[in-house]
Amino acid sequence: MSTLSVDVTQNGSVKSMESPCTAAEIEERDFSRLLERPPRPLNIERQRSCDERSLSELSIGLSPHHSFRNADNSFRFMDHLDVVFTLSPGRRSGFNTPRSQNGFETHPMVADAWEALRRSLVYFRGQPVGTIAALDSSEENLNYDQVFVRDFVPSALAFLMNGEPEIVKNFILKTLRLQSWEKKIDRFQLGEGVMPASFKVLHDPIRNTETLMADFGESAIGRVAPVDSGFWWIILLRAYTRSTGDSSLAEMPECQKGMRLILSLCLSEGFDTFPTLLCADGCSMIDRRMGVYGYPIEIQALFFMALRCALLLLKQDAEGKEFVERIAKRLHALSYHMRSYFWLDLKQLNDIYRYKTEEYSHTAVNKFNVIPDSLPEWIFDFMPTHGGYFIGNVGPSNMDFRWFCLGNCIAILSSLATPEQSTAIMDLIESRWEELVGEMPLKVCYPALESHEWQIITGCDPKNTRWSYHNGGSWPVLLWLLTAACIKTGRPQIARRAIELAETRLLKDGWPEYYDGRLGRYIGKQARKFQTWSIAGYLVAKMMLEDPSHLGMVALEEDKQTKPLMKRSSSWTF
Ligand code: GLC
Repeated sequence: MSTLSVDVTQNGSVKSMESPCTAAEIEERDFSRLLERPPRPLNIERQRSCDERSLSELSIGLSPHHSFRNADNSFRFMDHLDVVFTLSPGRRSGFNTPRSQNGFETHPMVADAWEALRRSLVYFRGQPVGTIAALDSSEENLNYDQVFVRDFVPSALAFLMNGEPEIVKNFILKTLRLQSWEKKIDRFQLGEGVMPASFKVLHDPIRNTETLMADFGESAIGRVAPVDSGFWWIILLRAYTRSTGDSSLAEMPECQKGMRLILSLCLSEGFDTFPTLLCADGCSMIDRRMGVYGYPIEIQALFFMALRCALLLLKQDAEGKEFVERIAKRLHALSYHMRSYFWLDLKQLNDIYRYKTEEYSHTAVNKFNVIPDSLPEWIFDFMPTHGGYFIGNVGPSNMDFRWFCLGNCIAILSSLATPEQSTAIMDLIESRWEELVGEMPLKVCYPALESHEWQIITGCDPKNTRWSYHNGGSWPVLLWLLTAACIKTGRPQIARRAIELAETRLLKDGWPEYYDGRLGRYIGKQARKFQTWSIAGYLVAKMMLEDPSHLGMVALEEDKQTKPLMKRSSSWTF
């Protein structure tokens, strides 16, 4: 394995360094600079493909591939992230590696986690194509013996970070084939672009054959549609491309078509008055009735991120060009809407508290006619002086003030959040540590629905009782998202604290799916053990902290040139 390390200087030239710099050697305040430093292992290959495309160029019709440098000839931050460094072959943080490269003592849990992750591999005709949701034989399987698209994402990232991209490629191609299936629930046909929530390999021991079986919602409990699957698929395709430097997969006509089909579903025009995506309950990680119908933050953030990734991956050929233009317009409207109306901090809260209602016409301040009396009691104490977050949902006379982890982390990673908003989200996590992290990272949402509200909103769901499962439960998988968000905002110490908490329990408790209780102290009532994404989420968090340049796979820097969106002078130099 090569130990040569490189550094990209401000003017974009690449220079080699004697030995890799460890995160431990870097002061916290300098941490964000690590992002400017490429990873250690190193067949450097600049991927000048679509990663360099800027949204503003597209919206003002300039040709792609020119936004590589800023006007002062320095690299944009995004480009630092977008330098592609192919991992040298061999495992890095795997169980064969007792000590990591940069001198961190590898935690003993890492080896166990890799073993458990490998045990969860699912093979189809001899090839690994995914990981099973949970390897827990003590509970009824239900659908936990399937490969879930969303659950596979942290597994995929772990394999990519470990220099094992094949399984990710297999997964992307297999799910793409599943997308082309005819999908029907009773007599109703789903959109062509819908990606499955999960799939399974069926073995026929008599004929000695294997076939795939997919679930697009027609078997799922509550018949919920996985709106997030397509978005995760696009995000993963970009992570694969970014990590391997191999753009040939994304460029395949089948992948291009798959992306266009997903995009057609969510860019279609209709009766919408908002650029956000209207969804039914249970359409994402929270796949049961939890009152997230409408415009849930998780989907809006994933939508934004998937659109940005698609922009980087779509070819500008006859079919792709139209999509690229539609995406650029939608991103522009979506970021404005989200940053303006979903954002809540002390000032905004105070403004809502004092809102007038029943305002008519375009001059209305309280555009969605939110009634101040609908502000829940808890929000006044929860909101810190410094800090803020994207609330759960915004619709007509409806603001769901709950804090949702996944949506807020993805908002940071995709740069849907401005740098100031990203900092504020981290400030909130720090100042509301007990509520959001407690003894086990991390609450899926806060606070829990209780009593009458629980009855009405969840439909008396016994799995979603207060502080359990989706209703304020603590999900270890969210650790990777928190870690990525921490690194992106230059606050790795927060991630370190959270990982240390997880390390006191996760292995000992058998990698539970979720924890219950206000502080997340109890293994979840119906939590599966050996839940793969709890295992993979931990590994990804560890690897990212160890080598922050992995962040580039899952993060996009703000497209500064879109703020404000104005015409560039013709003398603009790149
Ligand atoms: C639960 C989770 C869902 C996950 C599935 C498999 O239903 O809510 O997000 O994909 O389990 O782990």
